[in-house]
Amino acid sequence: MKEKISFLENKIDLNSPNKNIVPITTKVEINGKLSIGGCFIDDLIKRYDSPLYILDESTLRNSCRAYKKALEKHYPGKSLPIYASKANSSIFMSNLIASEGFGLDAVSEGELLTALKGGVPNEMIVFHGNNKSDKEIEFAVKNKIKVIVDNNHDLKRLEEISKSFNCDLDIMIRFTPGIECHTHEYIRTGSFDSKFGFGIESLKNLFKFINKTKHLKLIGLHAHIGSQIFELDPHKDLGEIMVNKILEAKSFGHNIKELNVGGGLGIKYTEQDDPPSIEEWIKTVSISVIKACEKNNLKLPTLMCEPGRSIVSTAGVTIYKIGSFKEIPGIRTYISVDGGMSDNPRPITYQSNYSACLVNNPLNLDEKFKAKYTVAGKHCESGDVLFKELELGQCKTGDLICVFGTGAYNYSMSSNYNRIPKPATVLVNNGEAEIIQKRETPLDLLKYDVLPDRFIK
Ligand SMILES: Cc1ncc(COP(=O)(O)O)c(C=O)c1O
Repeated sequence: MKEKISFLENKIDLNSPNKNIVPITTKVEINGKLSIGGCFIDDLIKRYDSPLYILDESTLRNSCRAYKKALEKHYPGKSLPIYASKANSSIFMSNLIASEGFGLDAVSEGELLTALKGGVPNEMIVFHGNNKSDKEIEFAVKNKIKVIVDNNHDLKRLEEISKSFNCDLDIMIRFTPGIECHTHEYIRTGSFDSKFGFGIESLKNLFKFINKTKHLKLIGLHAHIGSQIFELDPHKDLGEIMVNKILEAKSFGHNIKELNVGGGLGIKYTEQDDPPSIEEWIKTVSISVIKACEKNNLKLPTLMCEPGRSIVSTAGVTIYKIGSFKEIPGIRTYISVDGGMSDNPRPITYQSNYSACLVNNPLNLDEKFKAKYTVAGKHCESGDVLFKELELGQCKTGDLICVFGTGAYNYSMSSNYNRIPKPATVLVNNGEAEIIQKRETPLDLLKYDVLPDRFIK
């Protein structure tokens, strides 16, 4: 008898994909093999090679629709969900979120360009960043993209650049609301000690200063308190604080029409994680904004939110092939896979945990065999370990491992460390698989190397 059920046997929540470990179309088929989006994973690897990122279209669309539906249900004013494209930026992702009626948040010219190429209308894009270059600001101004001002330097550059283009600009202000939440310190951004945004105490002077500018019109406020957040209270507090700042801005003559509460809703990476649903999160934010507006007799602003991880993370998995084994008797057995910290830097950066299984023995039905492995990447770095301890069935060189929850902050944070090419990404849906990002080759990585003439013999 099996003593413990696998996470693959949990009931799947179709309405809030962030509450599942696996994409909503994941199945263990009758032949015992794993499929996602109606595609057998081992077939995909035969076709597209390993390692491979896979994105499930149904999970992506269900996540987007959950945000739209919850906003329609709980917020009577206008609303706009905006996809934080840093989570996974591609022409495909831009296209998909635009088709679901989402806007997009970009942090560089590269992300802006990707959004426009993917068909996101310019008026649905917001441009963030704590150190935007003049070139990036000019790109945003030329394309009539709304800029979220992060600091005084930003503000001065924007005023000068809009003057040189002889145009007026609608801007939003990002500020740090001073809210602490329990998440990794690198992904906590709303506390006073953060590199992002204006300090809340500086807003009065800022509102005064903006009145003196000739080309900038303040129409919105923005705050983002962190990522992978499981508590609802910080976002309840945030709604109230932001509405109070609308009032303060009003006293300086600014008419704030847009409130952007950032992203941050967590997802379930492992059995221990229990994030709120998308609806619960939106309901909490909505109620707090509505209540604070009622109390202060304010018209409801357009409510914007910027989810990244909770849109794309659960939709994505990464498949690796097992190569070498190294047993250290009495200590551990390492298994090494054909990827690692270059395609997924989160474990080495944030000590992040994931769930995983063998592709062709996902439920580990052979109860006689149970082993814990340390799963290492192939990079020349001792810390390149994807799992410190992973229980798997019997496995051998050539077997495939599926790591769940890798749709966000994996491809987008990937590197070419050790000159390792980035994997391809395949989109799966209804039994069809399509390439949305080609696999890099070692030759691609030489493209930008230059040997000055004097070194050529
Ligand atoms: C300004 C801003 N908005 C939105 C997000 C997206 O957050 P998440 O992926 O946690 O939803 C981030 C993430 O760092 C962010 O910095």
